[in-house]
Amino acid sequence: MPKLPFICANWKMYKTVGEAVQYVAAFRGLVRDLDGVEIVLAPAFTALHAAAEAARGSNIGIAAQDLHWEREGAYTGEVSGAMAREAGASYAIIGHSERRTLFADTDATVNRKIAAAFAAGLGPIACIGETLDQRERQETFDVLDRQIKLGFDGLTGDQIGRMVIAYEPVWAIGTGQNATPAQAAAAHGHIRRRLRQWFGEEAAGRCRIIYGGSVKPDNIRDLASQPDVDGALVGGASLDVRSFLEIVKAAAGGGAAI
Ligand code: PGA
Repeated sequence: MPKLPFICANWKMYKTVGEAVQYVAAFRGLVRDLDGVEIVLAPAFTALHAAAEAARGSNIGIAAQDLHWEREGAYTGEVSGAMAREAGASYAIIGHSERRTLFADTDATVNRKIAAAFAAGLGPIACIGETLDQRERQETFDVLDRQIKLGFDGLTGDQIGRMVIAYEPVWAIGTGQNATPAQAAAAHGHIRRRLRQWFGEEAAGRCRIIYGGSVKPDNIRDLASQPDVDGALVGGASLDVRSFLEIVKAAAGGGAAI
């Protein structure tokens, strides 16, 4: 069975509870009949529960933007997978480059967080990708190999098959400069090959590898039509209902004028 494209809105530190609920209320009717795509929204923790309630009974899933690897404990400011799950999340974004560069996430913490997500019943959306320096030094595939090897260490083939991996070249995030479809295809193909080698054919085939970095309504078709690109993680262009709707529709294969 072909995989459903997976499109996730990463709202980052945008949208209050009121704004999130208003968005979901407007969005859910517009996507009601789209069944060729899996749609997920990742609000800030404060809006997670309200957004999940507003999305209840719709075809919109909810993701947390991060989690802590412990179930509970003296970790001021942190939120566990169990808490996010109870608040209504079914996925968790893990290892986003902003968390790696600004908040000290490493391949080792990513590894613990992925295990914690599975333990809490959340589907991990694990982010990997190279910086501009690393690309210019031709280290892209080495960086991806290291992030996969260390970040996914100890996971079973079954878990890999249930994961979403977001390839997000750091230089493309929030810059308006997306990877070209050929660059995305090369990186996704490499990731898929490594998964096949290290976790087996079935795991590699089932895992959804999505692209992130300046995805917009006008480039989603070219990116999503590449082999091994199974969807997108969308930041800036997901904040507006109409532009995210266009992206979701294009990924669903509709692509009709809105
Ligand atoms: P962007 O962000 O679409 O604004 O580039 C993508 C992301 O950070 O996931």
